[in-house]
Amino acid sequence: MSQNSGGNPYGHFDDENREYVVTRPDTPLPWLNYLGQDEFFGLCTNTAGGYTFWKDAKLRRLTRYRYNNVPYDLGGRYLYVNDGGSVWNPGWKPVKAKTDGYECRHGLGYSVISSVKDGLSVSQTMFVPPGENLELWKVTVKNSSSKPKEVKIYSYQEFCFYEALNDMTNYQRTWSIGEVEVEGGAIYHKTEYRERRNHYTLFGCTGPVTGFDTSRDAFVGIHEGLHEAKVPFAGKASNSKAFGWNPIGSHEVTLHLKPGEELTYAYVLAYVDHDLVGFQGEKFTAPFVINKAVGIDVMKKYSSVAAVDAAFERLRSYWNTNLGNFQVSSPDPHANRMANTWNQYQCMATFNMSRSASMYETGIGRGMGFRDSNQDLLGFVHMIPGRARERILDIAATQLSDGTCYHQYQPLTKKGNADVGGDFYDDHLWLVLSVCSYIKESGDTGILEAPCGYADKAYGAGLEKETLLHHLETSIAYTMAKRGPHGLPLIGHADWNDCLNLNCHSTEPNESFQTAGDVKDSKAESVMIAGLFLYAARELSDLYTFLGSKNDSQRIDTQRRTMLDILETVAWDGEWYTRAYDAEGKVIGSKSNDEGKIFIESQGWAVLGGAGADNGRARKAMESVHKHLYTKNGVVLQQPPYSTYNKAYGEVTSYPPGVKENAGIFSHNNTWIHLGWCLLGEGDRALEYYHSICPSTKESQIDTYRSEPYVYAQMTAGKDAPCFGEAKNSWLTGTAAWTFVVVSQGIFGIQPDFGGLRIDPCIPKAWPGFEVTRKFRGATYHIEVKNPNGVSKGVKTLSVDGKPIRGNVLPVMGKGEHRVEVILG
Ligand code: BGC
Repeated sequence: MSQNSGGNPYGHFDDENREYVVTRPDTPLPWLNYLGQDEFFGLCTNTAGGYTFWKDAKLRRLTRYRYNNVPYDLGGRYLYVNDGGSVWNPGWKPVKAKTDGYECRHGLGYSVISSVKDGLSVSQTMFVPPGENLELWKVTVKNSSSKPKEVKIYSYQEFCFYEALNDMTNYQRTWSIGEVEVEGGAIYHKTEYRERRNHYTLFGCTGPVTGFDTSRDAFVGIHEGLHEAKVPFAGKASNSKAFGWNPIGSHEVTLHLKPGEELTYAYVLAYVDHDLVGFQGEKFTAPFVINKAVGIDVMKKYSSVAAVDAAFERLRSYWNTNLGNFQVSSPDPHANRMANTWNQYQCMATFNMSRSASMYETGIGRGMGFRDSNQDLLGFVHMIPGRARERILDIAATQLSDGTCYHQYQPLTKKGNADVGGDFYDDHLWLVLSVCSYIKESGDTGILEAPCGYADKAYGAGLEKETLLHHLETSIAYTMAKRGPHGLPLIGHADWNDCLNLNCHSTEPNESFQTAGDVKDSKAESVMIAGLFLYAARELSDLYTFLGSKNDSQRIDTQRRTMLDILETVAWDGEWYTRAYDAEGKVIGSKSNDEGKIFIESQGWAVLGGAGADNGRARKAMESVHKHLYTKNGVVLQQPPYSTYNKAYGEVTSYPPGVKENAGIFSHNNTWIHLGWCLLGEGDRALEYYHSICPSTKESQIDTYRSEPYVYAQMTAGKDAPCFGEAKNSWLTGTAAWTFVVVSQGIFGIQPDFGGLRIDPCIPKAWPGFEVTRKFRGATYHIEVKNPNGVSKGVKTLSVDGKPIRGNVLPVMGKGEHRVEVILG
């Protein structure tokens, strides 16, 4: 049944169609969607803003976008409509003419933007077909007036010179290298093809093309803005041929529409790479004339509307298959909507993008993050385990043989870089979590033997071929070996909270907090890493048990117990766990501090790591979180915020109180607290906390929240900020994966385990039950959970296909459909 929400002034959910419908273009911030799922991606806002790249937003950017523009979001997949001299855009921008109706439907891997004005409606459906390196726009134009119309439609996209940083900085070169060709309905952007590139960008049109432009100066003008671009207002293409400066792609399509007549055609934006497709032909067919054979084939393939529609259907079924691995029906519409559709969808985006390209990440700063991508995988692995496998091996290969890791790598080259520093002493531990979650999902223990090697040159004998299992051992050993005076793990440049820079004492405004020089003989230690270690060590020890390696399991468990003792001995502050020790060995996150007395991360990880389970501290720590950190918009990162810059703590104290790591609501770490409540069996608290950061609940306060109500944002301003409740940095956040873990494994309790599917829900007492369909290792389980006694946790009975099962783990059953009944009590 559809659960369409009442929405907000800017739009509403269409749950049945899995779309978010934006009904006003002037949203409080641009509301973004992603196109693409494999290697070809686009960013697309609700006014058609954004850009396209292949694999890597830095090194293979195909179309251009100027970030932090005025207006905020400008440049994208524009269509200018000239209807008898009246010029407008279906996506409102850039002309911003008043239309008689506007709608943007952000769906899974596609966006449909439509507007109607003066009896003419134009609808533009943009998507990337699965498995293709191209983007399609299906355009439908309808004359619903009573008079015949001659309509001209001008497409507009700026080409990017592939290397995005160069494109936006090095004009002394780039303004002299631009080259294009035009043939048939297609524009070929061929800059640098004559030298080291064996690829070009094709922008084609299947409609009745009556002209074109490839020079931005000719189309827009020099002193004009996109909202007053010369060509569409003149109603005549200038057939300009770019030579240097800024090449663009624009087709003029002329349509004669009778009253009531509708016409559909398409645009294709393709990345054509001869190496990729193994093209053997000549590079040029004549001097300066590129061989267009592959491009021509692409155009032929999508020359019919039927082919475009079929590609769209493939996209729809691709998503139905992915999402079909987990579907829930519960009494909570927000959890249903997010878990069934948007949360999983966001997990695909974070898996693909890591922290590289969004409205806040420019695609030139960060690549794939080591800790980030390992965590992103946790929310993705159930959709396409095969891709998760490949990713794990890529990430592991950027670990160094001493156990440390490249903090990020470029997706195109898969090579690690130190651009944002290294020596974050939590990085390697996340690998243990991602590998274990992959094996739990897939049962593929063979991955442990995959020879992925280490990234450094200082290979000892055979280190270049070392297995993934070796990486896990190296990771655990590294944390045990690198400990400080209290016996806790050293923090390095920072742990998960990469703004807690305890070793980068910086007074120089021009240096990065992450790469500033290390304090000599530093003693800085992290309680959070200790908690994370407990968790990772338990995972590895359990894995060894599953593999039948009892000794190894015990060996790792002994290390876990050593760390647990240390943590309980040195990190308990009376009401909560402390956060860290600084370079001089002074405590952080203690009641003895004036500011930053209590932090969220160490509570979350100590509890998840199993600390405080037997002595009541876990519950006490969680209650302290509730008392000191919880707000209706989520849990703030610490309290009280830092009011002055403290070089001994670094970037965390550089932010104004209430934002980012300085007492902002950092959604990512909220999820560890949600899981903590689940562990303690507090289902009502778990759901209340889940709701506090759930974007779908924010529709009711959208003018404060401002960001997209369908995906998580990295941060919401905390109670100490003047804009409490304002969200920023949507889409690319570890919150996506972790919240899916919370909702699917914590609340609904469907937990993949090495030996089967564990069922251990933690729900509000008032829920009568819920149903989940979960595909797991080839079988489909239809799970019905009943809660006749009004409890939050505890499986009383479990049966599969009518047969009772002891314990709460469903065995691996191979193919087929199975009915599972669970009674809580
Ligand atoms: C980074 C993460 C980091 C988090 C907290 C994010 O921006 O991508 O790696 O853990 O901030 O500092």
